[in-house]
Amino acid sequence: MDYAYGPGRNHLFVPGPVNIPEQIIRAMNRNNEDYRSPAIPALTKTLLEDVKKIFKSTSGTPFMIPTTGTGAWESALTNTLSPGDRIVSFLIGQFSLLWIDQQQRLKFNVDVVESDWGQGANLDVLATKIAEDKAHTIKAVCIVHNETATGVTNNLATVRKILDHYQHPALFLVDGVSSICALDFRMDEWGIDVALTGSQKALSLPTGMGIICASPKALEATKTAKSDQIEDGRLVKSYNLKVQNHATVAASGQKQQRKSMYHATAW
Ligand SMILES: Cc1ncc(COP(=O)(O)O)c(C=O)c1O
Repeated sequence: MDYAYGPGRNHLFVPGPVNIPEQIIRAMNRNNEDYRSPAIPALTKTLLEDVKKIFKSTSGTPFMIPTTGTGAWESALTNTLSPGDRIVSFLIGQFSLLWIDQQQRLKFNVDVVESDWGQGANLDVLATKIAEDKAHTIKAVCIVHNETATGVTNNLATVRKILDHYQHPALFLVDGVSSICALDFRMDEWGIDVALTGSQKALSLPTGMGIICASPKALEATKTAKSDQIEDGRLVKSYNLKVQNHATVAASGQKQQRKSMYHATAW
């Protein structure tokens, strides 16, 4: 049977993509625009400033790229790490499983800490690994804040405490796809180095935009990361520094985000 909408308003009852508020749907009703027009960098600048609020970050540098949560994962990893780097990653459900699979395919040396699905990340194991890693072979700790598949939320403040306690320099990379704008999220306070989300979750936008925020330490790491970055490296330079997109973006999508940002930061 062909998929067809029933009569009336159809609602989604899933954690994402979510229902899009009416005012955002109306803001989408526009034609494609010239993404090189001088108005677009001006718009992007205001968005980049405002989007920091969803991360609760003042020191981070945000990026908004045409991609999904999966693309944002890849961007976070390849811009800050090199193939062979040891990373600790927690397997607690379907999305952490998929992120770990991507990490392995990108040729990182993934130290997987597995818990039963329905449980949170085992941070005692993390504490032991960090304590033992006197040579600082662990380059990053990767964690899904809210494992959408099971609804379990991990304690990011504790991860930061463990790293600080042992004065360990590992980068702290967080998937906030189903948490940012939905759960309390404090990038600066929790010392997160890269946080990421997707437009279709709590921002209540259509699918297609990855939103990433990088700490000063993560930006420093981009200078030495040796992973292949076919587009992202150019993106970092052209998009954020000159606030000019290096390739065609959904300019009208940015207009929706202008509206959505008020919606997402109003509470
Ligand atoms: C926690 C989490 N991470 C990553 C993803 C992947 O995002 P996307 O489907 O936009 O690639 C999802 C998707 O539901 C998710 O819930």
